[in-house]
Amino acid sequence: MTEHTPDDLDPTGRDLREYTDELRPAYPVVRNSQGQYVLLRHADVVAAAVDADTFSSAVSAHLQVPNGLDGAEHRAARKTLDRYFEPEVLAPFEPVFRDIARDLLGRVPNGVVVDAVREIGAQFAVRAQSAWLGWPSKLEPQLLQWMAANHAATRSGDRSRTAAVAEEFDEIIRSVLKPRRSMGDRAPNDLTTRLMHDKVDGRPLTDTELVSVLRNWTGGDLGSIALCVGVLFAYLAEHPDIQQRLGSDASDAELDAAIDEILRIDDPFVSNRRRTTRPVRVGHTDIPQGAVVKLHWTSANRDADVFGDPDRFDPQGNAADNLVYGIGPHVCPGRPLATMELRIALQETLATRLITPAVDEPAKRAVAPIGGFHRVPVVLRDRSSGERTRGRLD
Ligand code: HEM
Repeated sequence: MTEHTPDDLDPTGRDLREYTDELRPAYPVVRNSQGQYVLLRHADVVAAAVDADTFSSAVSAHLQVPNGLDGAEHRAARKTLDRYFEPEVLAPFEPVFRDIARDLLGRVPNGVVVDAVREIGAQFAVRAQSAWLGWPSKLEPQLLQWMAANHAATRSGDRSRTAAVAEEFDEIIRSVLKPRRSMGDRAPNDLTTRLMHDKVDGRPLTDTELVSVLRNWTGGDLGSIALCVGVLFAYLAEHPDIQQRLGSDASDAELDAAIDEILRIDDPFVSNRRRTTRPVRVGHTDIPQGAVVKLHWTSANRDADVFGDPDRFDPQGNAADNLVYGIGPHVCPGRPLATMELRIALQETLATRLITPAVDEPAKRAVAPIGGFHRVPVVLRDRSSGERTRGRLD
């Protein structure tokens, strides 16, 4: 392991998975062009994520509930908000998500090239998330448009553009909250209304806090689900043996484990930031107080010191070290919802279709700062006709 830290690394235009695979063996901690310290090794990422006293989540100037909170304030927010992801809250949405997936897949013609990220993942994410929160379906085109604008703004790295897009999203959220306020008791009985009446530490959430929570439950998540669907479809198209195993009679638990493992191998949820509250040494690197540190989940999930060959598909063997949903006090509360959505999307696809790669168009990887794929062209073949082509696939 080298003793120094390379400064001023710039991943612009690079596939982050490939880039961090190259860097990690020699440089466990790198500094990017914005002066942030990027932790690439599994052990360092875990140590920082669980030590919230040293690695604070108060990084952004904007209020972020619960993401940007620390300590007791964070625990109180999580205590209230985690209830929205409990099994009995999620269970009624299972048939709803299944109907959405069936309807969506029913519109994908047999044998025609579709982009799994935009035409399946994004559409499914918006419809499922709107159903979960009780948002009107007339908002869906607006949300899809917003996702595309957000993606483009993130890619551009232009802060004023990302700020404008974030403001646009807050407007959408306010348009959902306003009519509910004026309806009083006649407001729909759904999770959004429940949140508006809920309490953190004995007091209701302010409007700014409500918008922040809903932004975290939708804004970031819609893109993540779409990217996850892209990664899953790309992987299964390239691994027909695994697809066949999952498509026959895998249990929910087997499918969930396989999904987690595919996302570990190719984690599209790249990183989260922290700010150091004191000087700290990570490996051989001294990090000053007040520095921004990036926990690089995509890199940590491929660390050979933990996983050996990072591309080896071993759902059971690798589950305990999987960091797709983070670790420590900020571990993803939305995991049960995300897992259920992804499982249903795959189950409904594999029940009737085979996912095959588009012949003339390879999948296009996303580049920094986005993970996963930009575009995943696949052909969904009816299983009955697909069976005839299985010789070629297998
Ligand atoms: C699609 C797959 C998803 C992935 C890969 C993912 C991943 C993550 C990760 C790695 C973290 C840790 C952040 C940190 O340590 O700073 C996180 C936090 C979070 N996730 Fe997810 N997530 C997903 C879906 C969702 C969904 C569906 C929701 C809610 C609807 C959600 C809401 C949140 C929130 C609110 C936090 C912040 C928690 C805190 O700071 O205490 N996520 N997620």
